[in-house]
Amino acid sequence: MSIKTIEWKDNSVIMIDQTKLPNNLTFVKYTKHTEIADAIKNLIIRGAPAICVAGAYGLSLAALESKATTINGLINDLENAKQTLFATRPTAVNLSWGLDKVMNAAKKCSNIHDVKKSIIRTANKLANDDITTNMAIGRCGSELFNDNDIVMTHCNAGALATVSYGTALGVIRSAKDLGKKIKVIATETRPIQQGSRLTAFELKHDGIDVDVIPDTATGYIMGNKLVNKVIVGADRILSTGHVFNKIGTYQLAILAQYHKIPFYVAAPLSTFDLNNKPEDIVIEQRNSNEVTNIGNQKTAPEDVGVINPAFDITPPYLISGIITEKGIAINPYQISIKKLFD
Ligand code: MRU
Repeated sequence: MSIKTIEWKDNSVIMIDQTKLPNNLTFVKYTKHTEIADAIKNLIIRGAPAICVAGAYGLSLAALESKATTINGLINDLENAKQTLFATRPTAVNLSWGLDKVMNAAKKCSNIHDVKKSIIRTANKLANDDITTNMAIGRCGSELFNDNDIVMTHCNAGALATVSYGTALGVIRSAKDLGKKIKVIATETRPIQQGSRLTAFELKHDGIDVDVIPDTATGYIMGNKLVNKVIVGADRILSTGHVFNKIGTYQLAILAQYHKIPFYVAAPLSTFDLNNKPEDIVIEQRNSNEVTNIGNQKTAPEDVGVINPAFDITPPYLISGIITEKGIAINPYQISIKKLFD
């Protein structure tokens, strides 16, 4: 999509309100870092690379909001804002990666004016780099896709999950730009329906052929050979190749392996966490309303117990390849991922 999901304009942050899609393409404008934190928490902006840039712009707003008269006072205000922004969503590593990049740039400056300028410049660079990185991921991954492929994707790892172009959907865009005809099967992705609301919206917008299926139809579609590849994004990838992504990714990967369908993950290097083990990572648990209601309509009995994890972990042996801007990692991931960073 040529529209940007998030943008810095006249000392404010403009973003698409993704909770209103697909019915209304509306933009919201924020001037306070706490508004950005609420927007991340409430999924007005979502997707690992997009919340990285939102966090960076949140710090930019915090720098402008600060009344500090000393550089230490300003850094202190920024550290507090960073905590507020970091506390919004725990699973995607891109958010803390972006916040750290901006804070490191700030800490190199010697006066208040330079800190403010440097923070905004760094956040804008993260936003611009996101697009070029996604295009590089797209170029790398497009070679894995053939004319007339039917590709299943889950959640939204597209332009709306990034500043623009997308990771998994960027690969599809790139293959299409090479003249390959690709059809996409988008899982609905309950409970928030990022697949039917967002992936279907942006692919239709770009004239890419897409069908939406209920999550419960994935086995049927694979079993009946109605799809020949799967590609998803990621919120965090460990050095072992364990992939944290939208709830439902794990079962999709198991189904794909059972049906001998290649299962790819596309993500930038900023999604890799080389320091932690699977058990160290917090899986975000979201509000039970997301499961017991559709819109204002109750779809479950009052006070029923609910388990609503937002992400799951796909082990490396289920993954055919991890597509990044620096190349494609394959099993054994411990070695191939290390090479990407070398
Ligand atoms: O809860 P969400 O909508 O933020 O979850 C998004 C995903 O799981 C995406 O697949 C992931 O962030 C990769 S986006 C390029």
